[in-house]
Amino acid sequence: MSQPFKPSSAADITSGRSGERVEVRGWVARRHSVGGMVFTIVRDGTGYVQLSVKKGALGDEGFDAAKGATKESAIVARGTVKEDKRAPGGREVSVSEFTVVAKAESWPITRTAAKSGSYLFDKRHLSIRGPKAIAAMKIRTEVIGAAFDYFRENGFQLISAPSFVQAAVEGGSTLFTLDYFGKEAHLSQSAQFYEEAALPALERVWIFQPAFRAEKSKTPKHLTEFWMIEAEQAFVEQPENMKVQERLLSKMVERVIERRQAELKTLGRTLKQPELPLPRISYDEARSIAEKKGLGFEWGEDVPTEAERAVSLTQDSPFFLTDYPLTARSFYHMTYEDRPKVTKSADLIAPEGIGELATGGQRIHDYGELIERIRSQDLPAESFSWYLELRKYGMPPHSGFGIGVERTTRWIAGLKHIRSASLFPRTTTRLSP
Ligand code: 4AD
Ligand code: MG
Repeated sequence: MSQPFKPSSAADITSGRSGERVEVRGWVARRHSVGGMVFTIVRDGTGYVQLSVKKGALGDEGFDAAKGATKESAIVARGTVKEDKRAPGGREVSVSEFTVVAKAESWPITRTAAKSGSYLFDKRHLSIRGPKAIAAMKIRTEVIGAAFDYFRENGFQLISAPSFVQAAVEGGSTLFTLDYFGKEAHLSQSAQFYEEAALPALERVWIFQPAFRAEKSKTPKHLTEFWMIEAEQAFVEQPENMKVQERLLSKMVERVIERRQAELKTLGRTLKQPELPLPRISYDEARSIAEKKGLGFEWGEDVPTEAERAVSLTQDSPFFLTDYPLTARSFYHMTYEDRPKVTKSADLIAPEGIGELATGGQRIHDYGELIERIRSQDLPAESFSWYLELRKYGMPPHSGFGIGVERTTRWIAGLKHIRSASLFPRTTTRLSP
């Protein structure tokens, strides 16, 4: 009696043995017929495998099914694995049974249509089946997975926090506002305040959840909804906070290099492991670099995008831009004892002109100092009441950061636009699909 057909993935088949009897389930990526043969490239969640269907090797019904299996039809086929140098992975399945499970209509994403980026994103529910979109999502999975591993290995607890909030963590200008049973509420810009509240309970925490910004900017690095990885630690000051960020980023890169070579190749990306410690460039140094390139800016301003880009082009690895002026940072930032206008903070910036991946810093932990800061910036103290109250009950020095998942994936995968790092991106002009 012959062996039963074993359900097998494309990856199983291309890395397995010849002679195995397999069942393939997937979607038709490409197909061509020559004489009495049909060659079908099938995609599943693991990759691509070639089926060769020979007239006479299966019933007429099976052969006609294979011949009529349009692009993106869902199919199930059974057969025997054979060596074939021309097939992806060097093996193909010589088919003895072929069934179309769900036939696809004529595929709307033609080569000509695919030249329009906005058409591809209008049809994103379909275009995500393309090899580049798949590669980007698999790299994103590794980026997130590396964070889960890093934080578990380093004793951080994973917390969650509400998305409906009242306080503005990162300023009022990018808040989404909504009606919450007659009260004004906002969508969370950052879970940082909740992480800080969790410190006396858990000491080291991290979080992985969506953040919302009503950014009007239409740029290759802004989404209105994105995923953020944030971490916060008690009894940790800014220098150590930067070490956590560089180790985390380094682990993300290492994981992608280790596991996603094929995907990097599909995207035409050469990714190098950055050497630690990453360079640290101060705000003042960045200002003089920018000035030499004719992109000078006033001390106290946030680093303008063009200047940040110019500095990033002088580096070939990610780097920290440190010591931002208080006027360029949110109210909660701690300043140096001997430099009251300079914050203990840094941005982690990707080279190649990509720009900011993370922002982090040390927070004010003293009650008097924080209330003073809130008052001096004319902020509504009542909306920060519980955040302030934390400072009355044992708040030690503490630091943390937030790193954008799509920005990091964009840099690691070498994507031109941040929207390609999101399965269903949200931007100022996109609410669908
Ligand atoms: O720099 P941001 O605004 O910092 C914070 O929210 C801090 N409260 C985080 C913390 O210390 N816990 O945002 C952090 C990161 C940015 O560096 C960027 O990678 C990403 O979030 N980000 C965006 N990504 C995509 N689209 C946007 N509109 C983004 N805004 C911020
Ligand atoms: Mg920032």
